[in-house]
Amino acid sequence: MLIKKPNRILPSEITDEAVYKERRRFLGMAALGTATLTAGGLMLPALNALAKPVERKSFPDLKKGPFGTDEELNSFEEITTYNNFYEFGFGKSDPARYAHMLTTHPWSVSIEGEAEITGRFNLEDILKPHTLEERIYRLRCVEAWSMVIPWVGFSLADLIKRFKPTSKAKFVEFTTLYNPEEMPGQKSGILEWPYVEGLRMDEAMHPLTLLAVGLYGKEMPNQNGAPLRLVVPWKYGFKSIKSVVKIRFTETQPQTTWNLSAPGEYGFYANVNPNVDHPRWSQGRERRIGDFLKRNTETFNGYADEVAHLYSGMDLKKHF
Ligand code: MTE
Repeated sequence: MLIKKPNRILPSEITDEAVYKERRRFLGMAALGTATLTAGGLMLPALNALAKPVERKSFPDLKKGPFGTDEELNSFEEITTYNNFYEFGFGKSDPARYAHMLTTHPWSVSIEGEAEITGRFNLEDILKPHTLEERIYRLRCVEAWSMVIPWVGFSLADLIKRFKPTSKAKFVEFTTLYNPEEMPGQKSGILEWPYVEGLRMDEAMHPLTLLAVGLYGKEMPNQNGAPLRLVVPWKYGFKSIKSVVKIRFTETQPQTTWNLSAPGEYGFYANVNPNVDHPRWSQGRERRIGDFLKRNTETFNGYADEVAHLYSGMDLKKHF
């Protein structure tokens, strides 16, 4: 892991307890020489090889998108070696080691639910009408670390308009690929698979909400959610679902993976809020990956001017 300074937080402090225990169990079994784990375990021996370097296409002449930040960017190494992608394991370095197993070409996305136009579309057709741009966003993880990432993508709002949601469409639900053969973490019962996330329609239509296809000017590395992922910068990172295969317009609030797994810990809204702590740790401060000292966490991750109006009149302690 190429983090400049040692991470002084104990994994047990920052990782969901159940996930932490499952990881210890896996490591313990591996240490005992029982690494041939299948269902209920994580890694197959064949996966132990490190990922080969992958040639990723460049997106030339990207224009800068709105809402940029002039903060120092995290390095490509940091962004691509310290990840959460539980489909590939529970350790931060697991996605970089194992996500090369995922086949991302060809890829299709199914558009479903309350919309005039629905169906399954090749990724190329999904992307064709959109002009890609670079957007530098802060990503604040619920585990109290953050990064600054130069994404490549386009506004989710522009995609949504093309499919003409009906007046019944009040929410948008997103689903990750389900393929336990290529995503061995899905053989573990620690979460319900496939990973599902959701947004209220006005959040999905907000100009900050991004569908990302790359970072640092090139196609998305698999560990960051290739070929298509969501980025919602004012919400905790778990809302930013990776490797999306389904977008569904719904009348009712979607059942989302983390909310289902621990409703008292992970709310549907998941707006970054230093005044509402996680039951087991503070959300008041965060560690920017690469920094030694912690910094204060900002309300809505620093995007309050743009998004606070979406929640006016709501009790954000209740709707956390
Ligand atoms: N999407 C899927 N499908 N599976 C995951 O485990 N983890 C989430 C989110 N999207 C996750 C996911 C969490 S907890 C975070 S913090 C971000 O991805 C991390 O994104 P990054 O690895 O690109 O920094």
